Amino acid sequence: MANWTANDIPGQHGRVVLITGANSGIGYETTLALAKKGATVIMACRNIEKGKEAQAQILKQAPNADLTVMMLDLADLTSVDDFVQNVKKTRHHLNVLINNAGVMATPFLKTKQGFELQIGTNYFGHYALTGLLLPLLEKAPGSRIITVSSVGSKYGRINFDDIMSERKYSKWNAYSQAKLANLVFGVELARRLKAANAKTISVPVHPGGAPTNLQRSSGFLMKNIITPLMSQPAEMAALPSLRAATDPRVSNGTYWGPSGFMELKGYPEQSKIPAHAEDPITGKRLWELGEQLTHVHFQF
Ligand SMILES: NC(=O)c1ccc[n+]([C@@H]2O[C@H](COP(=O)([O-])OP(=O)(O)OC[C@H]3O[C@@H](n4cnc5c(N)ncnc54)[C@H](OP(=O)(O)O)[C@@H]3O)[C@@H](O)[C@H]2O)c1
Repeated sequence: MANWTANDIPGQHGRVVLITGANSGIGYETTLALAKKGATVIMACRNIEKGKEAQAQILKQAPNADLTVMMLDLADLTSVDDFVQNVKKTRHHLNVLINNAGVMATPFLKTKQGFELQIGTNYFGHYALTGLLLPLLEKAPGSRIITVSSVGSKYGRINFDDIMSERKYSKWNAYSQAKLANLVFGVELARRLKAANAKTISVPVHPGGAPTNLQRSSGFLMKNIITPLMSQPAEMAALPSLRAATDPRVSNGTYWGPSGFMELKGYPEQSKIPAHAEDPITGKRLWELGEQLTHVHFQF
C-alpha cells in the first residue's frame, strides 16, 4: 500500500503495547499515534518525570488514552528484571513489544554490568527484556516484537573479538555495531519463532533519519547540517514502527523502513535486509553471547 500513514492504523482498542523510550522523539510519536487509535500503552522510560511529562502531553491530544508510565533502565539488567516483574503484576498478556529506546555516539561509558554503553543499552538490554517478556507475548496470538534498528546498520560490523570496544573505541562504530545487532537480533528471533511454530512474530524496522534528542552527542556537523538535510520529522520516522506493529499484511522476519531518498525519508515500505545482517552464523553467535552475558534464556 503506497503512502501508508498513521490514518491507516486499524483500531487498537483492547491491544496492549509496551514501548521503550516512549517519552522522546520516535518513541513519543509512536505512543501518541497508538494512543489515538485506542491502544493501551505501557511507556517504559528511564526517567519517570520525563515519562509523566510525555504522558501529560499525549493526554492533551488523546484525552481517553490508556497510558501507564513505568521505570526501565536498559543499561542495568537488574532494572530490566525488576521492570518485567512489575509488568507481570498487572498484565497477563502483551500484544506488541516495541524495542525502541537507544543512545547514539556517546563517549566511552559502561552500563551497570560493565558493558559498553551503546551495545549494552541498545542491544543487550533489549535482548534481556524481550526474553523475559516473551511468555506474556506468547499469551496473545498474533503478537509482535518490533525492534528498531538503523539504516546505518548497513555499514556496521559486529566485532566479536572486542564487542565491548575495550581495545579501541569509536563512538560511531560502536553505534552502528549496536544497531546492526538490533537487526541481526530481529532476524534471528524471527527464525527461532518460526522454528518453534510460535504465534508471535518478530519484525525489525528502521526509522530513516529524524532530528531528535538522539543527536545530543553526535557533534556539530551531524546535528546541525547532516541531520536537518537528511531526515524527516519524528512523526514520519515513527511510521515504520507503527506499520510493523499494526498492519495485518506485515509478516514474520520482514524489515520495514522509509521508502524515499536513501531510505532516510518517506512512507514506510518493506526494506531489503543487508546480507551481513541475515547471516545465520552471526545470528546464532550474537544470540549465544546474549545468553552468556545477560543469563536470559528464551523459552519458546
Ligand atoms: N533519530 C534518528 O535519526 C534515528 C536514526 C536511526 C535509528 N534511530 C533509532 O530510533 C530509536 C529512537 O531514537 P530517537 O531518535 O527517538 O531518540 P531520542 O529522542 O533520544 O529517544 C531515545 C529514547 O531512549 C531512551 N533511553 C536512552 N537510554 C535508555 C536506557 N538506558 N533505558 C531506557 N531508555 C533509554 C531515552 O530516554 P531519555 O529521554 O531519558 O534520554 C529516550 O526516551 C533509537 O533506537 C535510535 O537508535 C533513530
